[in-house]
Amino acid sequence: MDHFVSMKELTEKEIIEFLDRAEMFKKNGTHELPGKYTVSNLFFEPSTRTKMSFEMAERKLGLDVLPFEAAFSSTLKGETLYDTVKTLEAIGVDALVIRHPEDGYYEELIGRTSLSIINGGDGSGQHPTQSLLDLFTIREEFGSFEGLNVLIVGDIGHSRVARSNAQALTKLGANVTFLCPDEWADEFKSVNDWDEVLESSDVVMLLRIQHERHGGEELFTKESYHEQYGLTTERVLRMKERAIIMHPAPFNRGVEIASELIEHARSRIFMQIKNGVYVRMAVLEKILKGRK
Ligand code: NCD
Repeated sequence: MDHFVSMKELTEKEIIEFLDRAEMFKKNGTHELPGKYTVSNLFFEPSTRTKMSFEMAERKLGLDVLPFEAAFSSTLKGETLYDTVKTLEAIGVDALVIRHPEDGYYEELIGRTSLSIINGGDGSGQHPTQSLLDLFTIREEFGSFEGLNVLIVGDIGHSRVARSNAQALTKLGANVTFLCPDEWADEFKSVNDWDEVLESSDVVMLLRIQHERHGGEELFTKESYHEQYGLTTERVLRMKERAIIMHPAPFNRGVEIASELIEHARSRIFMQIKNGVYVRMAVLEKILKGRK
């Protein structure tokens, strides 16, 4: 595997191999990669978790990490992403983790650079390491995916998290349903309301409203959104006995999820964040070891 950009191309077997390797890292902690590799994290959109989690994974693998700050880079002088990537290739970087607002930004890079690209999120497209950490967290909870009912609620059409997870979970045999306003459905089909799915869902995954992708148009107030699409303190009481709450974060308290539920016994939100480090170690290892 030269690059890791999407969940679409991964086979079920490849997904499970990543999860198994991540599980090993979770049990055993750090693991120095033989050979000296240099990586850099290019984030052209805001990030707390994904960027810090990749940096932690890189350090645990003993990689050299070259700092990059998009806001102080030559991008501001008009340099294209392609030219930035070719520059880092010339400097001697082996792999780049890139987050970029454009869907499929990586397509123009693949085949034109010798360094490896790991996608840290492209616009509304894909967020494959988030998907792997979500899958890891679900498997840790339920042991497998076959027949699990996963409900994804929120700004589905603009969400790279929904898109990557829908593809991967379906491939693994889970039933994925969506709840969202029609205006945000895009290629997805929403159920009518919470009542249709809440009591049968094993996983309730909430998403942030992607205001930055709405071009200024807002359909809801915080209160009206919470009322219709939020996981409220009343709704949580109707969840199945072992059902869990997930959210890729950052979460907006009182909008997609009631503030009291963030650290609720059903919530796996901080466990997802923790697991992100291990799946990213597995991805970095696979990509770097595969380099000729
Ligand atoms: C998500 C993202 O950036 O796609 N966050 C994350 O990586 N954990 C979700 C979001 O921004 O809403």
